[in-house]
Amino acid sequence: MIHIESLAALRAVVRDAVASRQAVRFVPTMGALHDGHAALIRAARADGGLVLVSVFVNPTQFGPNEDFARYPRTPGADAALATKAGADALWAPLVEDVYPAGPSARLSAGALGAVWEGAFRPGHFDGVATVVAKLLVASGADVLYLGEKDYQQTVVVRRLIRDLLLTTEVRVVPTVREPDGLALSSRNRYLSADDRRAAAAISRGLRACAKLAADGERRADALLVHLQDVIGGEPRVTVQYAGIADPDTLEPVTLLNAPARALVAAYVGATRLIDNILLVPPTP
Ligand code: PAF
Repeated sequence: MIHIESLAALRAVVRDAVASRQAVRFVPTMGALHDGHAALIRAARADGGLVLVSVFVNPTQFGPNEDFARYPRTPGADAALATKAGADALWAPLVEDVYPAGPSARLSAGALGAVWEGAFRPGHFDGVATVVAKLLVASGADVLYLGEKDYQQTVVVRRLIRDLLLTTEVRVVPTVREPDGLALSSRNRYLSADDRRAAAAISRGLRACAKLAADGERRADALLVHLQDVIGGEPRVTVQYAGIADPDTLEPVTLLNAPARALVAAYVGATRLIDNILLVPPTP
């Protein structure tokens, strides 16, 4: 696997790929790679072409009181995991490469970035939109691989690509989970042993909600009460928001007449985790 830092080196690798008619398959990450990232890289590998992984802890998507400084940075382990999963190149740019003039020009994620996660993390999706646009322009990615765990991010990025008239195709890869259902996340490593055990309540609640929906409950408020009841059975977990959203517009759904997304953010001890699940009502 090739290690790339500078933009010039990145451009040379991409130029070679284009010259040899290989598609650029791009997996953007913030490092602290785990099996969820490996699934993205493996999906890209299976699709063929140049598999390019970026590792960049993007400062502009963290709020002032968030964990930017202590976000886990594990370059050696990241390189080993990316190599094993089939990456061809690992691009780890410096902050000054991505923001050469400082964090000035900034994209807005608009209304899609202001709801759910965005309501509790103001500016977060503007930072994501800004950095993803920069990474796509720099890499010339043909296909972008994103994890379903960050569902709202997938919606924001799809819209961004459309708005900017980019031609990058988006592939969303299913969430990878621990045996007890906990969605893999770089932030899981913050959990104490007790918090780790308690954190499984989030996916338990989501699964219970999806089952109730599949069994025919269409009222979003009833589905959400059930979700909260299951999660609330675990005292270490505090739900910050739980909602049911239209999968494309992210608008709240009151009656489940079509598939929708249940979205949750919760604190487990001091660690904030997010997760989601697809709700599919029975066909009438
Ligand atoms: O999902 C992430 O890890 C980040 O939000 C991303 C897409 C790499 C942008 O910094």
